[in-house]
Amino acid sequence: MIKKILSYFIPINIHKKNSEINKTLEVTWANGQLVLDSKNTNYSYGSLQRILRKGLHYIGFERIRGFENVLVLGVAGGSVIKTLVDEIKFSGKITGVELDSRVIEIANQYFGLNKIPNVEVVIDDAFEYVLKTKEKYDLIIIDIFQDTTMPNFLFEDFFINRINFLLKVNGFILFNTMTLSERDRKRNEAYKNRFSEEYSVRMYPKVEFHNELFTIKKLK
Ligand SMILES: C[S@@+](CC[C@H](N)C(=O)[O-])C[C@H]1O[C@@H](n2cnc3c(N)ncnc32)[C@H](O)[C@@H]1O
Repeated sequence: MIKKILSYFIPINIHKKNSEINKTLEVTWANGQLVLDSKNTNYSYGSLQRILRKGLHYIGFERIRGFENVLVLGVAGGSVIKTLVDEIKFSGKITGVELDSRVIEIANQYFGLNKIPNVEVVIDDAFEYVLKTKEKYDLIIIDIFQDTTMPNFLFEDFFINRINFLLKVNGFILFNTMTLSERDRKRNEAYKNRFSEEYSVRMYPKVEFHNELFTIKKLK
């Protein structure tokens, strides 16, 4: 409790772990809230949670409540899963795919991820997982970073086509990206044009600092 109060004045780190995938993982009390950070960016809760919450608002909480199943690629501390369950009251099935098993240990220990009944966490590479899964999803949240870097596969046709195939008609993709350079901005600009007229693509610039969000609806 004392750490929580003090954290309104100064961030208080309570756990630090090295990770091959994410370099460092830090659990910190900041402004009265427990957050998870990598070396150079916020990973879960804090600004990251606000960004994805906005994206879910754009899609519509009411609409999401009616969905059957959601796929979350990149789980970290699980803040978007918390938003889905606690705020939106989504009671369908959530599958979370995360490459770094250490991050899931932290999610369970500090953020109670394993206490949420309608979540199944799979430790796997998101790219591998989407090739293997036989399910189709109403909502696919793509939130994959290794510190501030986004793997190239996210922007390649093979992955885009596979995600589109896994999406149900009238389903949505929510894609969180970081634009730190002119090159990233151009990459995002090109991404928009990769979808045919069977999809409705919206881009929300500067959601917070360097984040740009995409929502993509499959129309038919
Ligand atoms: C910003 S965090 C995700 C935050 C999370 N969506 C939330 O709501 O709290 C990015 C996560 O992507 C994971 N990641 C990176 N590369 C991955 C990959 N190829 N497959 C699955 N997860 C990956 C990282 O380990 C990290 O936990």
